Amino acid sequence: MYDFRIEAGDKAELWRQVVGAADALTAGEPDAVANMANVAALLWEALPDLNWSGFYRNVGGELVLGPFQGRAACIRIPFGKGVCGAAAQSLEPQRVDDVHAFPGHIACDAASASELVVPVVHEGALIAVIDLDSPRTARFDEQDVAGCVELARLLAPRLTLVEKASAAR
Ligand code: SME
Repeated sequence: MYDFRIEAGDKAELWRQVVGAADALTAGEPDAVANMANVAALLWEALPDLNWSGFYRNVGGELVLGPFQGRAACIRIPFGKGVCGAAAQSLEPQRVDDVHAFPGHIACDAASASELVVPVVHEGALIAVIDLDSPRTARFDEQDVAGCVELARLLAPRLTLVEKASAAR
């Protein structure tokens, strides 16, 4: 059983603990699905006010649903569509205070009000995006962006090892 007891006074400390726990969960584990699944669960448990946390993977130039917590979601998202597709196309984090005002937002869960999507890039290539949804408008701030970017940096080489191993055979 993993019990990280993440209780932080401020947001920067909360993200430090989340990244530390994600490091412990994924270090030395070559299975990308296992790593995404555990990190989705960690984010879900540690971050307040979420209704969805998880991954979309870059599968041949299209985003395909990966491990997540929350309600069943859209399976395929083209690059450039919605908040996730914008992050995939631009390779830049997308922080949206009000998803209803975002052109092309894809409403998987009507409860979502704000969203943060951060690309996971390894050696210049998009591997996946981390997607966080909240039922609260303007739930995410620049500290969340910084923390999630740090998490994406940690995870990038740990979400590719299976593909690399099989490609080497
Ligand atoms: N709302 C997202 C789609 C994914 S769900 O939120 C899980 C978007 O606009 O990209």
